[in-house]
Amino acid sequence: MNILEAVQLKDGSLPEKYKLMTDLEMESRVKEIKESFGTKLFIPGHHYQKDEVIQFADETGDSLQLAQQSAANTEAEYIVFCGVHFMAETADILTRENQKVILPDMRAGCSMADMADIHQTERAWDQLLDLFGETILPLTYVNSTASIKAFCGKNGGATVTSSNAKEMVSWAFTQKERILFLPDQHLGRNTAFDLGVPLEEMAVWNPLTDKLEFEGNPDNIRVILWKGHCSVHENFTVQNIESLRISNPNMKILVHPECSREVVALSDFAGSTKYIIDTINRAPAGSKWAIGTEMNLVKRIIKEHPDKEIVSLNPHMCPCLTMNRIDLPHLLWSLENIETGAIQNIIKVEEAVAHDAMMALNRMLERA
Ligand code: 13P
Ligand code: SF4
Repeated sequence: MNILEAVQLKDGSLPEKYKLMTDLEMESRVKEIKESFGTKLFIPGHHYQKDEVIQFADETGDSLQLAQQSAANTEAEYIVFCGVHFMAETADILTRENQKVILPDMRAGCSMADMADIHQTERAWDQLLDLFGETILPLTYVNSTASIKAFCGKNGGATVTSSNAKEMVSWAFTQKERILFLPDQHLGRNTAFDLGVPLEEMAVWNPLTDKLEFEGNPDNIRVILWKGHCSVHENFTVQNIESLRISNPNMKILVHPECSREVVALSDFAGSTKYIIDTINRAPAGSKWAIGTEMNLVKRIIKEHPDKEIVSLNPHMCPCLTMNRIDLPHLLWSLENIETGAIQNIIKVEEAVAHDAMMALNRMLERA
């Protein structure tokens, strides 16, 4: 389901009773159901989830860890995924036939994943093969639909996450001369640049015009970046960094690589959500940090480190709206549905798509 369909989906699926319960009542019901199901129920939670939900996660993690945890858990019958749709799809692909993956609110999509659909990708691929022959390997950020992952799997490519992008792009260059990197141009550009590919050797594929944006000799292109981005991370700007460097010159800037090349270049450190958490955990008391990532996570890090001065790189930042769709009422509703046997919002990837997507995921997990 894309963002438009998700927005059109009314919240009618959530029964009125959950809107009338207090947080305390809901929390005690969630605890009760978790206790009664024991290891038959597994709740993974992405770091961008709200505190009201993350407090009930059996494991938390970045996208790579969540994929690894899903693959490793063979015991749970029900996996209630607190994250967004592409993560739940990945969990379904990596788990067994008898395990059900449930997304508490189907409106929890990802605008970046919606920026590459399979028809656009197949059209792009035909044109790129005409231009470059069999010299390209497709890589997709896990923030993509199962069909895009399947496309990469079928064409010898793999998935990547923000914590293994460098390893995966290096591997891709051992396979082919060029890579097509979907759907996040920023993670692709930042990663290739860090590996020594000059910006002049990177082109952008525009899926809206079906055209390659590049000036110069196309023979020099080594990286083709899909023109997609994260609508949360694009809100961190060069101006944010410039004003912070003036107002607080001793503050270190730590951002997610979904931020633009310019922002990453001016920052002190960049990495996945796990990298951001680990960096702050290791930092000495009294150190000062401006973080450029989603706000639920930044707020949690601030709360957990009262001995450090931590702010959001953009003082007007909001949380990721789709991650925020998963809240305490939807979590409880999902769990009560399991209890009564009337399960809703099961994420099931079509078998042929899951088979090919698994090839792309396995190529990553073998190397991650
Ligand atoms: P990571 O947690 O893998 O860094 O991913 C960030 C993200 O945007 C997930 O949607
Ligand atoms: Fe998608 Fe960006 Fe939200 Fe992550 S933070 S789920 S990439 S919109």
